[in-house]
Amino acid sequence: MEPPGGEAVSLSGVWVSYSGSGRPAIVDAFLSVRKREFVLITGPNGAGKTTLVETCLGILRPLRGRALLLGVDTCSRRIMTARKECSYVPQDFMRPPHDYYTAEQVIRFGLASLKEQPPREVIEEVTRELEIDRLLKRPIGTLSGGQQQRVFLARALIRKPRVLFLDEPFSSLDEGFRRRIAEMLRSEVDESYTAVVMVSHDTSPVRDLADRVVLMSDGRVKSLDRVEGLG
Ligand SMILES: Nc1ncnc2c1ncn2[C@@H]1O[C@H](COP(=O)(O)OP(=O)(O)OP(=O)(O)O)[C@@H](O)[C@H]1O
Ligand SMILES: [Mg+2]
Repeated sequence: MEPPGGEAVSLSGVWVSYSGSGRPAIVDAFLSVRKREFVLITGPNGAGKTTLVETCLGILRPLRGRALLLGVDTCSRRIMTARKECSYVPQDFMRPPHDYYTAEQVIRFGLASLKEQPPREVIEEVTRELEIDRLLKRPIGTLSGGQQQRVFLARALIRKPRVLFLDEPFSSLDEGFRRRIAEMLRSEVDESYTAVVMVSHDTSPVRDLADRVVLMSDGRVKSLDRVEGLG
């Protein structure tokens, strides 16, 4: 555990453009996410939410402006080290039916880059809580969408990241699991000083748990101090 303070993510005056695309996907974005903060990003399709998350991680580079992850410029070589301290569950997590790696192997692969392996009890606790403990020997491609999504969420949580990025983590989950995940995330933020950046169209399971909401539209970022601002 580390003391609070310091920024997990900082974007200042960031513009992002895809090659061949006429208009920028991110326009002059400013965003600051502190350690021990739970930020929800929402907005319509094509608003730039996934682009913003991948810019925070240094997967996409700003055309203009500056992006820092855990204090490291995303354009510097050290970004790979900073990224290893983060977890990311992308929007398109689904594995094809013929993918024969077991759910347990998928989780293990996600832990391979860690300096220290998490204790067995953490793996058991998280997989039990997400009710995938009985699915661990099954090939990932044979699991349902919601079951696969829970495997990837478990993997992200077991890594005990300093920053956790989740892009539409509820997309395949039923209502009960949406709320359970949201509560687990709040505990991670409060107990482990994790910063959480979550993209979701469905704001209802998190609106009373997130610290702040970021609204995106047409590549522009608008930060609301209060979750109630969502209306
Ligand atoms: N690889 C790409 N090449 C070109 N344009 C892209 C690419 N990916 C996204 N875009 C464009 O960038 C804009 C933002 O896309 P992005 O995927 O960030 O939106 P989003 O808010 O995540 O949408 P959704 O809610 O549908 O996931 C869109 O106009 C999209 O068409
Ligand atoms: Mg998206």
